[in-house]
Parts: sequence; structure tokens; C-alpha cells
Amino acid sequence: MKILIIGSGGREHAIAWRLAQEGHHIYGAPGNPGIAELGQILATTEYLAAADSVNPDLTVVGPEVPLVAGVVDEFRAAKRKIVGPARDAAQLEGSKIHSKEFMRHLGIPTARYTRVESAEAGILALAEFDTPVVIKADGLAAGKGVIIAQDRAEAEAAVRSLGPRLVIEEFLRGEEVSFIALCDGKNIVPLEATQDHKAVGDGDTGPNTGGMGAYCDGRILSAADARHVLNSVIGPVVEATRFTGFLYAGLMMTADGPKVLEFNVRLGDPETQPLMHRVDSPFGEVLMASATGNLADASLRWKPQPSVCVVLAAAGYPGQIRTGDLITGIDRCGTQVFQGGTKQGPKGLETAGGRVLGVTASGPDLAAAAANAYAAIEKIHFDGMHYRHDIAAKGLKRWGPATIRTIAP
Ligand code: AMP
Ligand code: GLY
Repeated sequence: MKILIIGSGGREHAIAWRLAQEGHHIYGAPGNPGIAELGQILATTEYLAAADSVNPDLTVVGPEVPLVAGVVDEFRAAKRKIVGPARDAAQLEGSKIHSKEFMRHLGIPTARYTRVESAEAGILALAEFDTPVVIKADGLAAGKGVIIAQDRAEAEAAVRSLGPRLVIEEFLRGEEVSFIALCDGKNIVPLEATQDHKAVGDGDTGPNTGGMGAYCDGRILSAADARHVLNSVIGPVVEATRFTGFLYAGLMMTADGPKVLEFNVRLGDPETQPLMHRVDSPFGEVLMASATGNLADASLRWKPQPSVCVVLAAAGYPGQIRTGDLITGIDRCGTQVFQGGTKQGPKGLETAGGRVLGVTASGPDLAAAAANAYAAIEKIHFDGMHYRHDIAAKGLKRWGPATIRTIAP
């Protein structure tokens, strides 16, 4: 098939890598230098015009911004097959207030919250919560619109800096899990669960980012927990919204069971990078089934080997980033490197975004997968490069360093 991939990050590079391996002909709009090695770049964000110029059999949308703006409706009106949710359903990610009210309406387990529309109301509402307390900006913020305030003064500052439209919610304790399912308006095909690492620093310290690394291992969710999430979270949303495309539930596994931190209406970045390493079914065909309402008989198989992606971030990220630093060593690092924030400069590949590279490796067990990713990083360099040293450490702690996973049926 000819497949157009919309987006320019590491997630889109990983999707392109997988689909190219299956023999599909790849187009990327606007793409990035990594995708350019796998197919043809259409250097535009006029996506429908890009599709008209190459006539793809299928289009896959990576990022949320075009989804929230209605690219899927536009493609469908033009009779083009596309993987993603309609504009209305995409508001689940586009507005935190809408998403929380929707969850309350459907009885989906989530943190207790109050919505406010002014700084004054926000400051008053803080009295309803203990600290730490979580303050969330209403609109899209690339993973940076959330502040976990440790005390009252920090909380008031967060209300002032993120407002005026906010969700204020109770702080939940537990481990985070990313649960993503592919949907066709009616049928649901779950992906393997992944675990992201949102904070910039080791041990979950420092400010939140879009995600500093993720791993995929069949043991992250038990079969019973996965079924529970499908029944209590994903199913009700798909039924209420006729959701098409990838529905991503960011979960906190609390002592009272899984609770939804957020919905995304797309694949995760960096979760997609380790997922694409493990998928073991014709992914292009399953994507086509999502676009055409034929997921009823589809399923996804997964390779048993766990996979790990470590993000290499630019100087300053997640704050003000520096760009233009020369990147060396990708070709000789020995594993797959997905490009998220790069451009071709006069002397070679340069940094051009916050999350520059996603170094992704598999292994016979999780410890080996992580060791392979970190060994590859030793060979890569750019000035200001920083990364977390503990991606997958939670899994290793949970299961022991060298346990071979057993394959779930
Ligand atoms: P969100 O964009 O809503 O997923 O929030 C970004 C990140 O902030 C999450 O991935 C969590 O790490 C953290 N977070 C959000 N809401 C909460 C909460 N209620 N309790 C604890 N941590 C949270
Ligand atoms: N990695 C989190 C996200 O894609 O939103």
C-alpha cells in the first residue's frame, strides 16, 4: 500500500519504520530526516493537498494537533481512508475540562477534581484539596500543561501560571501505565501496555515532559487488569463517541484500581517506539481495518522480547531549548534510533527540537533490552544531550533483573 504518515516526530518515524519493513510505500508530511530515509517527504502541513498529490491508499495521523483541528473529518469528506478520530471525539484530548466531565458522565474512574475558569476561583478551590495537588491547563500543552504542586504556595503559583481555565485534581499515588487501543467506531483491538517516564529527571524528579522514555513488556498489565480497563474505560468511550483510531488511556494503578489520568486520541510518543519493535502482525493491514470499520476479526500479536526506548533530549529541555547542535554516532550505535527533533544542517544531522532521538532496543529480557539501549547511547553525542538513566527500572524492580517473561496467550 501507499501510506501517508502525518507528523514529524519519533512516533511517526517508528510507525514509518515498521510499515516500511512490511513493504509499504511511505510518504511523510511534513516528516523528518529519519522518515526521509524510508520514503518520500511532502514538506507541507496542507495534509489533504499532500494526499491529493500522491493518492495514498491510507493515511495515518500521529500527533494530536491536526486531529483536534479536524483533519479526519476533512479526509473523510474527500473520501480518503484515514486512521484517527473525528474532530468531536478528539476533544477528549483537546480539553481537559471536557475530558473530566465526560469521565464523570460515563462513570469512568478518575481523580476527584474541580474545574475553574479564573485564577480567583482556582485559588479558592485549592482549599478542597490536600497537597500535593495537581493543576492542569485546559488546552493542548505538549505534556507541559500539568504541575504537581507540593505545597500551597506552589499550587497558587501554578494556578496563576497555567490559568485561567483549569482542572484542579487530587494527587493519585501508584505507577503509571499507558494503555492504547485501536478502534473502528465499534470494535477494539488493544495494544500491549507500555510504561512512560514523564518527569525529566531520574527517579521521577523535576518538571514533566512529553515523555523521556518508555518500555514495552507483556507483564506490565495482567490479563485481568487489561480486561478490566477495556470494560470500564475503553469500551464506554468507544460506545459513547464511536471512536475511531488510537485511544490512549493514561492510567494510574492506584490501591483502588486503575484510574484515568488523561485520554489521548493518538499513539503515545515515546510509547510507539518500543511498541513498533514488538508488533508481530501485519500492522498496515490492521490500520486499514481501523479506517474501514473492519476490526471485528483483527488482532495484534506481539514478539515476546521486551523493548526499551530512551529519549535523548536537547540542552534546556523541557524549558527553553537550544537547537543546532551536531549529532554524531547514530550510524554506528548498533540499534534503532528514531528521530524526533532533528534537521539536516550544513555539517550533518543537527538538533532541532526538545526530544531529539529515541534510542530503541529489544532483548531476550527487559534487563538486556535496557542494557542494549544504554550501550548504544554511549556511541551517540551532541552538545547538551541529556537523558534518564532509569528507563525500565520500575519493571526491573518489580520483576527482578533477569527474569525471562512468559508469553501471555
Ligand atoms: P496528564 O497530561 O493529565 O497525563 O498529566 C501529565 C502527567 O502528570 C501524568 O502522566 C502524571 O505523571 C502526572 N499526573 C497527572 N495527573 C495526576 C494525578 N491526579 N495524580 C498524580 N500524578 C498526576
Ligand atoms: N508519552 C505521552 C504521550 O504521548 O502523551
